Amino acid sequence: MLTAANNGLARSPTHFSGITMPVEIIPARPAHASDIARILFHAFGKISAEHGFPSDVDSLELGGMIAQLVTTRPDFTGFVAIDNGHVIGSNFIMLADEVGGIGPITIDPAHQGRQVGRRLMQAVIDAARAKGFQRLGLLQDSFNTRSLSLYASLGFTVREPAALIDIVPAEDIDPGIRPLTADDLDAADALCVRLQKFSRRNETRAAIDGGFGPLAKLRNGKLCGYLIPGIFGHANAESIADLVALLRNAAAHGGSATKSLIPLRNGDLFRALLTARCRVVKVMNQMTLGDYTPPTGTWLPSIEY
Ligand SMILES: CC(C)(COP(=O)(O)OP(=O)(O)OC[C@H]1O[C@@H](n2cnc3c(N)ncnc32)[C@H](O)[C@@H]1OP(=O)(O)O)[C@@H](O)C(=O)NCCC(=O)NCCS
Repeated sequence: MLTAANNGLARSPTHFSGITMPVEIIPARPAHASDIARILFHAFGKISAEHGFPSDVDSLELGGMIAQLVTTRPDFTGFVAIDNGHVIGSNFIMLADEVGGIGPITIDPAHQGRQVGRRLMQAVIDAARAKGFQRLGLLQDSFNTRSLSLYASLGFTVREPAALIDIVPAEDIDPGIRPLTADDLDAADALCVRLQKFSRRNETRAAIDGGFGPLAKLRNGKLCGYLIPGIFGHANAESIADLVALLRNAAAHGGSATKSLIPLRNGDLFRALLTARCRVVKVMNQMTLGDYTPPTGTWLPSIEY
């Protein structure tokens, strides 16, 4: 019998016609997108339903959009796990700026608990390290004891609880808010480095170029805050009032802009949003691996980091 023992690929074998086949980890390609989309939909749907929460990937169509994005954008690196020729899981890392942002990771529910997730996590960590990235980050659902334990066992530390919040749209448009443009990049990134302690310049430029609806808030002609809306975005602002105005003006456009991740240790920001009747959907943990300097001031993470 052919066995894959001790060849480095043999940690999650499958038995097939009497032959023990290792699960292979290979680079993700656009041709894998439909399998990745299906697993994103089913894996997030199952774990969320088990805990009574809405799924982050609530349709196959959304799964398809995410899979297409992460398998085609040059700033994403990804891997799929192949079992007997079938994709059974995937994981991605965004390597756009100074911090690598991990996710989404999903394993086909029929294959969970076989250390495939651990191997896919190690694959993106190794890929990031090979490119010289010292800081990695991710956000995980606090109800997900398996992912929490997996990431912690790989060296990640919980840094910040963050609530996914439904933002109530502003009733009046703030005249100090306008679309963020390439001309704002220097000021926006200086604010990001001051508050979050690292640059997100490439990510912010991609949001401007990609038409993701980023907004700038100005006071006396100077940028005092910016927001890339939705959970894939992030924000930095001089004050809580500036950030709340940005969030609520963005939410007036509807769609993904109505959801945001709020760092819960910023109690005044959380209370300002509760006062505006915003609703908490669930709580997540921001976790990091490697160098970490705590952020200061008024900022928002993305679902990546
Ligand atoms: C989370 C997920 C990616 C993990 O992948 P997986 O292949 O199922 O997990 P693995 O078998 O590689 O590793 C799980 C580890 O957590 C450990 N673990 C699981 N539940 C645990 C618990 N309650 N307490 C402590 N450790 C736990 C396991 O023992 C295992 O560690 P080991 O390798 O030392 O035995 C996968 O289950 C999944 O796709 N879940 C649904 C989607 C999702 O939640 N994605 C992550 C979003 S943050």
